[in-house]
Amino acid sequence: MVNWCAVIMAGGSGSRLEPLTRSVNKHLLPVYDKPMIYFPLTTLMLGGLRDFFIVTSPEHVPQFEALLGDGSHLGISITMRVQENPGGIAECFRICQPDIGERNVALILGDNIFYGAGLTSLVQRGLARDRGATIYGYEVADASSFGVVTLGDHGRAVSLIEKPTHPGSQLAVPGLYFYDNRVATIAAQQVRSGRGELEITDINRAYLELGELYVERIMRGIAWLDGGTPDDLFEAGQLVRVLEKRAAMRIACPEEVALRKGFVTSGQLRATIATYPNGSYKAYLTGLLDTVDAA
Ligand code: DAU
Repeated sequence: MVNWCAVIMAGGSGSRLEPLTRSVNKHLLPVYDKPMIYFPLTTLMLGGLRDFFIVTSPEHVPQFEALLGDGSHLGISITMRVQENPGGIAECFRICQPDIGERNVALILGDNIFYGAGLTSLVQRGLARDRGATIYGYEVADASSFGVVTLGDHGRAVSLIEKPTHPGSQLAVPGLYFYDNRVATIAAQQVRSGRGELEITDINRAYLELGELYVERIMRGIAWLDGGTPDDLFEAGQLVRVLEKRAAMRIACPEEVALRKGFVTSGQLRATIATYPNGSYKAYLTGLLDTVDAA
C-alpha cells in the first residue's frame, strides 16, 4: 500500500481578516469553540493520516507549537515547516519536498471546514487512489471566488480555472487534494502566475493534462465552508454552535478523533486531559472517556 503524508497549509497573510490577523495566525482564530486548524486537522485524521506537516509563516510557528506540540498526545506526528512569504499554496510541495520523499501527499487548506455524514469516506476515496490526483467538486451559488472545474462526459474534468470572472460551471474545487508522488516534481518545475504565486490550480491542471485528474463530487450531506472573511468565520462559528448544541457532541475535536481512530488508548487520553484546565472541553472529553471505558 502507498504511504501518505499530510500537509496543512496555514500561512498566507490573512489580509481579509485584518485586524484579527495582525498578531494571530488566521488558522488559530476561533470557529465557535475551537481553533480553525482543528477542522482540517481532524478531517485528515479521520482518513487515518498520522504524519502531518503544517506550513506557516516564520513568526507564527511558536503559536502552532503552543497549541499542538509535536502531536504525540494525539498519537500523530506534527512537524512545522516555514513559508517565508505567501508565495502560493503549491509552494508547500517545494518546502516539504525532503519530507515527502517517496510518499504521496494529502493537502488540505487550513481555512477549509468540512462537516457531515460521509466525511471519512470522502477522504478515504482520495487515499484509495495510488496514482494520479484526486480533487473534489462542490456545487456553490457563485463559484467565481474559487478554483472552478468543468466536467465533461463520464464526469471527467475538461477544464480548470482559478477564480474565473464568468465561471463555466458552479462546481467549486474545495481545498482538499490528494496527489501521487509526482507532485513534487511537477511543483519543482512550476512557473509563478501573474500574481506571483505557485497556484494549486496549475498543479491540478498538470494532472488534467496527464489524463490523471479525478474529480469526486461532494453531495448534499456534507457542508463545506472556509474561514477567509469575517462573514465566513462568523457563519462557520454559527454552524458549529448549532450542531454542537443540538446534538450534545463536539465536532472537530482532535482528542476524540485520535481515540476513535485508535491512535491513542483511553488511558493515554486520560493522562493527557489530566493536564488540561477544568472547563467544558475537559468535561466533554472526560464524559467521552467514561462512556468508551464503560462499553
Ligand atoms: O478554499 C478553496 C479555494 O482555496 C480553492 O477553490 C482555490 O482554487 C484556491 O486557490 C484557494 O483559494 P483562496 O482564495 O481561498 O486562497 P487563499 O489565498 O485565501 O489561501 C487559502 C489557504 O491557503 C489559506 O488558509 C492560507 C493558505 N495559504 C495561502 C497562500 C496564498 C498559505 O498557507 N500560503 C500562501 O502562500
